[in-house]
Amino acid sequence: MSSLKNDRYIKAALRQPVDCTPVWMMRQAGRYLPEYRELRAKAGSFMALATDPELACEVTLQPLRRFELDAAILFSDILTIPDAMGLGLKFVAGEGPEFEKPVRTESDVKNLFVPDPYDKLKYVTDAVSTIRKALDGSVPLIGFSGSPWTLATYMIEGGSTKNFSEIKGMMYQSPKLLHHVLDVLADSVISYLNAQIESGAQAVMIFDTWGGVLTPRDYELFSLQYMQKIVDGLKREYQGEQIPVTLFTKNGGNWLDKMADTGCDALGVDWTCNLADARSRVNSRVALQGNMDPSVLYGSPERIRDEVADILKSYGPGNGHIFNLGHGIHQTVNPEHAKVFVDAVHELSRPFHQE
Ligand code: CP3
Repeated sequence: MSSLKNDRYIKAALRQPVDCTPVWMMRQAGRYLPEYRELRAKAGSFMALATDPELACEVTLQPLRRFELDAAILFSDILTIPDAMGLGLKFVAGEGPEFEKPVRTESDVKNLFVPDPYDKLKYVTDAVSTIRKALDGSVPLIGFSGSPWTLATYMIEGGSTKNFSEIKGMMYQSPKLLHHVLDVLADSVISYLNAQIESGAQAVMIFDTWGGVLTPRDYELFSLQYMQKIVDGLKREYQGEQIPVTLFTKNGGNWLDKMADTGCDALGVDWTCNLADARSRVNSRVALQGNMDPSVLYGSPERIRDEVADILKSYGPGNGHIFNLGHGIHQTVNPEHAKVFVDAVHELSRPFHQE
């Protein structure tokens, strides 16, 4: 029995019946909210917010005060793991994340280690337990991590990249070295996510933002294989509750069936896929989360509602749909439009469910 007042998200992720389709938004806490910008300015930086459990908790709750979201997501970042490995994470205004010490040579690779989540990443587990307490059973808390491949891209490139020359260079020149990096990362993600679960995360999601830049063969070898290791190593049940696991490979529409084979509970889907096709390809083995183009939120309220209706129709009746954007909400979106979106999902989805 769940102690949650609203457990639609958990039920949908486990493909159980719900009264209406649950909804949350990737990057729901962030710069499109004026209250976020204000607190970030006071704290001084993104990392100052993320490393202070009270501030991270406050930021996590901000979107939930405005919108009837069915889940909270931990306010943190995927790059906390490489930072805890000593690579020196910095967020440069207008440039995105950068590492002081990118991983390039064999000795850089050999120096990598699995960080103790209760030591170097204690600010994350503390944030999780603080947020879980503050939510007081209202909605579930989602914990998260990057996929090994996606973390490795930032670590090896040293930051954001357009053509992935450093990591693909390593992939084709020294595949064994890259496999070692990915293996240490998979072990790190397992211990990090299990610590989030022990601290109160009620579901977890793995963001594979860059898996979609690989060939089908390399996706299996360098990304999916390590997500499989993680799915196998996670606590899938904690204190009598099932912990749903979602995998999200951006631009991974070609590989949904292979991703479903990992035994995860749900797959994130971006807007380049049609949900009806995706649903038939995974053959109801997993739930699907998605998949509105975040740019639709630049449209009028009527346009947003039409798009929500189309996506609900595309998934069709029955269980196993979590509504979301196909990627993070853009920072220049009007928060009122996010409210139209969330309300439209609840209102328009009722006919698709019979509890
Ligand atoms: O979804 C949420 O509300 C939870 C918080 C969250 C953040 N990052 C906060 C953040 C989550 C789930 C992430 C995941 C993340 N971080 C991903 C995977 C998802 C995706 O977007 O593809 C990736 C690739 C990163 C790495 C990262 N972090 C980048 C590339 C950037 C800079 C680009 C940008 O959007 O500014 C960040 C910074 C970051 N992470 C911000 C936030 C709110 C903006 C920081 C700020 O306030 O300036």
